[in-house]
Amino acid sequence: MLQLECFLRLVLLLYVSFGFLLHPVVTTVIPLGSKLSVVDNNCWVSTNGDFAFGFFNISDEPNQYSVGIRFNSKSIPYSLQELVWIAGAHDKVSNLSYFQLTPQGELILFDSLHGVTVWTSHTGNRSVVSAALHDNGNLILIDAKQNIIWQSFNNPSDTLLPGQSLAVYDTLRASTTHPETSYYSLYMNASGRLQLRWRSSIVYWTSESLSSTGNLTAFLTTDGSLQLRDQNSKAVWSVFGEDHNDSVSYRFLRLDLDGNLRLYSWMEASQSWRSVWQAVENQCKVFATCGQRGVCVFTASGSAECRCPFKVTETDNCLVPYEQGCTSGTNMQQYKNVHLYGIYSSDDSVVTTSLQQCKQLCLNDSRCTVATFSNNGGPQCSLKKTKYITGYEDPSLSSISFVKSCSDPFAVNPGIMKSPPSKPSPPRICVPCLIGAASGTFVIFAFVQLGIVFFICRRKKSAMRRVTLAFTFPNSKGLMVLSFSEIKSITSDFKNRVGPNMFKGVLPSNRLMAIKDLNATIEERKFRSAVLKIGSIHHKNLVKLEGYCCEFNHRYLVYEYAKNGSLEKHLDDSSLCKRLTWRKRVEICSSVAKAICYLHSGCREFLSHGNLKCENVMLDEDSIAKLSEYGFAIVDGEATYCGFSAGKDVGDFGKLVLTLLTGRRDDEQVCEWAYKEWMEGRVANVVDKRIVGGADLEELERSLRIAFWCVQVNEHKRPPMEEVVRVLDGTLNVDPPPPPFHLPFDPQENGSETESVVY
Ligand SMILES: *[C@@H]1O[C@H](CO)[C@@H](O)[C@H](O)[C@H]1NC(C)=O
Ligand SMILES: *[C@@H]1O[C@H](CO)[C@@H](O)[C@H](O)[C@H]1NC(C)=O
Ligand SMILES: *[C@@H]1O[C@H](CO)[C@@H](O)[C@H](O)[C@H]1NC(C)=O
Ligand SMILES: *[C@@H]1O[C@H](CO)[C@@H](O)[C@H](O)[C@H]1NC(C)=O
Repeated sequence: MLQLECFLRLVLLLYVSFGFLLHPVVTTVIPLGSKLSVVDNNCWVSTNGDFAFGFFNISDEPNQYSVGIRFNSKSIPYSLQELVWIAGAHDKVSNLSYFQLTPQGELILFDSLHGVTVWTSHTGNRSVVSAALHDNGNLILIDAKQNIIWQSFNNPSDTLLPGQSLAVYDTLRASTTHPETSYYSLYMNASGRLQLRWRSSIVYWTSESLSSTGNLTAFLTTDGSLQLRDQNSKAVWSVFGEDHNDSVSYRFLRLDLDGNLRLYSWMEASQSWRSVWQAVENQCKVFATCGQRGVCVFTASGSAECRCPFKVTETDNCLVPYEQGCTSGTNMQQYKNVHLYGIYSSDDSVVTTSLQQCKQLCLNDSRCTVATFSNNGGPQCSLKKTKYITGYEDPSLSSISFVKSCSDPFAVNPGIMKSPPSKPSPPRICVPCLIGAASGTFVIFAFVQLGIVFFICRRKKSAMRRVTLAFTFPNSKGLMVLSFSEIKSITSDFKNRVGPNMFKGVLPSNRLMAIKDLNATIEERKFRSAVLKIGSIHHKNLVKLEGYCCEFNHRYLVYEYAKNGSLEKHLDDSSLCKRLTWRKRVEICSSVAKAICYLHSGCREFLSHGNLKCENVMLDEDSIAKLSEYGFAIVDGEATYCGFSAGKDVGDFGKLVLTLLTGRRDDEQVCEWAYKEWMEGRVANVVDKRIVGGADLEELERSLRIAFWCVQVNEHKRPPMEEVVRVLDGTLNVDPPPPPFHLPFDPQENGSETESVVY
């Protein structure tokens, strides 16, 4: 048991340091090189024993560990020792993982099973000499002058502890493995208001501070109140827990999974955590409490219940309110005292009209899915065109909602409600499909047969022409395995260089190939296993790996050939650059984002690109962007497979977008310059002057904002690729980004560094 282990270790530590003294004041120093691992089941404990840092298994899945800080006090039972900080937020690691304060002074979380550094504190070159877990639950890294270089208090997950603060642009994010609920965050905006948000676009609670002066920090006091403080630490806004001023041993503030922000106190008598304050009184007012298509009802007993008004009788499923293409017409169902929200509301419209008109307007508009009519001082009809509908019902609400549905119920797909798991719909047999499938199979079979005959003939021919090439036999994964002499032969002795360590080659079948010399050492076993993984990936925006060579110390990758060459070539060549119209550039950004997103979350296991830059974005014969050289990255002549975090790719992607928009390459200053121009309202200046017809300003704003979020110095502020894709597609709004680069920062100044998970 971890708790017992930690306790024993603490006792042992005290014993070792102070002999038999019973209440020693110990400053536990965690020296460089200290290591924790799942296997050793060890941990670091604060001197008062209240907090422990170690690995724990919080998910339902076996072999999914997180590392971080939790309560460790003997007076709290193990199952109630809440987590207060997690390294790397949602990332889970295997049982072969370790957490170390490296000799270079960096905290790293390394998963040996996947060979990946999952999280680091990025303090490798900042002269860290040791770490300590303070009695208030703050893990700190200090240098020789006792300056705090890094602290967990400045990088919060979902919890604030007494004494901890949240500065402008900082975020608490609800921790969960379900993406839908992890959309909840507590954010401190530029004018010093605390906001609870769903995604970054929907604010459902705000602190009502006075005229905002900026430079505020949110602060949790030890006596149980949450305050907004100005530069002089004077409270300008506060809320109090019910037990404010009572003597309570442990408190914390957490953004819970249900999107509500609560202050908790430890109740010694009942041995439980009690919520003594919550931000949103009526849980139904927390956006999307009942998820997609659910309606939240606040009951008399004060709890929230999810109902499903869009119900069909036999199954318990909620229906998608309306799908386009009902064969037998549509009708509107009416719900009283119900307010419906839609997200991504850019298309929504609000009109002043009567109840009947409201219903009719939605019915007549083929894209309208629901409408909510309210009459608070004036009749208003809100027409929604999104399929993500969620809402709440309250007898006090005057709103009346209409939900469009098909008259023919079979034209509507059963949707899936959060709570009752859906029963699988009975399979429908479609005779024409069966016939189609059968004949399709036959046709494919015939083609394969023909192909084999053709292939054998070709082989005979080429065999006559030159030495037999073994690579015409693909291995079981469909990859060609080539010898070094074959590589030499197809590249005509590396005659045609098409990029850094990249050569053009021709197969005996006359197919063009691009051959990459990795020019780095990597163990044969690792190389082969990596190549097999990479070879099994298919995406329309990834250059396909077709084969490889692994002989002695030769390591080559054979890719499909992209006819139009690299993006770098296009940006550097004035005539090719003409092809990079604004539309094309936007399209390239979106294609590259999709490819990276696929590597990060679409494959069976996480893959990083590690090497994203203009040279590695290829354009095929239709000028569609395809990413090349993914999976491997070379550092100091040594190749690693996937040894990079998602954050690195996101950062590289941001730089790529800035390069594409500005046309300025290899310019360290380009990011700072572009940010300044954008901040000061000269956004059009940023655009590459070579683009005929200039830029679409709305797309430009969107692309710049997301690029600045991607290049945030703090990797935890960078958005996941999925959201980047959606912002570029225009289906997700994005907030104005904070300055991406480091601000001048004095670590001794009461830790007001703005570092945390934000976007
Ligand atoms: C790690 O997990 C794997 C798979 O669940 C299991 O087979 C293995 O025994 C575990 N190893 C250790 C050291 O616990
Ligand atoms: C901060 O939030 C408040 C309340 O939601 C809003 O009125 C204000 O405009 C926001 N400030 C900025 C800079 O976004
Ligand atoms: C906010 O703080 C920064 C740095 O501490 C200071 O330069 C700036 O003047 C402050 N702004 C306001 C509005 O007080
Ligand atoms: C807590 O105590 C202070 C000072 O005694 C007092 O001003 C404050 O009103 C008290 N807070 C509450 C919520 O009772």
